[in-house]
Amino acid sequence: MNNLSGKVVVLTGGGGGIGRATAELLAKQGMKIVLLGGNNQEKLQQTQEVAAQYSDCLAIPGNLTDMGFLKQGIETATARFKGVDVLINNAGVAQNQPFEEISPDDFERIMAINFRVPFFLTQLALPYLKRSEQATIINVASVVSHAGYPMQSVYTASKHALLGWSKSLGAEYYKENIRVHAISPGGVYTDMVKISRPDLTADGMIMPEEIANIVLFFLANRGNAVVDEIMVHRVNKQPFLV
Ligand SMILES: NC(=O)c1ccc[n+]([C@@H]2O[C@H](COP(=O)([O-])OP(=O)(O)OC[C@H]3O[C@@H](n4cnc5c(N)ncnc54)[C@H](OP(=O)(O)O)[C@@H]3O)[C@@H](O)[C@H]2O)c1
Repeated sequence: MNNLSGKVVVLTGGGGGIGRATAELLAKQGMKIVLLGGNNQEKLQQTQEVAAQYSDCLAIPGNLTDMGFLKQGIETATARFKGVDVLINNAGVAQNQPFEEISPDDFERIMAINFRVPFFLTQLALPYLKRSEQATIINVASVVSHAGYPMQSVYTASKHALLGWSKSLGAEYYKENIRVHAISPGGVYTDMVKISRPDLTADGMIMPEEIANIVLFFLANRGNAVVDEIMVHRVNKQPFLV
């Protein structure tokens, strides 16, 4: 098992369900946490307080879709913690809307947060990751990276893009000792689901802590055997490939 204590993780979407659970679990391992981005400052602050009980945690609120903010955010994070060992591209927005009603603004917003932000944030973090002995990038994709659900056309396209890019990135950088993983969850009981799928209840849903445990698995098990991608289905839902 890798010793993660003191390693620096930059995590987006830390104010929310999966991000908050992940920040807490990684802080418990002694990792230094950077919560990068978030429009809801109160939620981000709450996560910061939880993580800070166990380790150093810096919260940098702001809109991730602003390239200037991303650049400034990485500079602030590295000035404080002197590097980046792990980048977790977790922030995302869902969509539950007929294809015909999607405006160009909707399209841009969803593609930006779900795909453009991870893409360019990773570019900004790469110089620091290259100096780390445990450099790891984890992209939170979705089961819709592998399938197409109705009413989720842009979300599905953005998550396909995220997964496709993850594969290319992993192949391009493994020789530089940078590991790239994707996690593709099904329904996780977070604010995203509560808002976009009000028909669903907590019953049988994946809990955010379960995804955080998978993140920890990737980070703690860094050997020659590489698990590049994990699909996570709800227990009460048939896996798509069955
Ligand atoms: N929940 C599921 O069923 C499920 C399934 C598969 C994949 N996922 C993926 O899991 C990831 C985490 O989602 P979650 O379920 O934990 O939902 P969540 O609680 O809604 O978290 C999403 C996070 O993204 C942040 N975010 C969104 N737009 C942003 C922006 N422009 N700038 C800064 N931050 C922004 C939100 O912060 P603010 O609210 O402060 O803006 C929030 O903290 C997402 O990538 C999602 O696609 C979720």
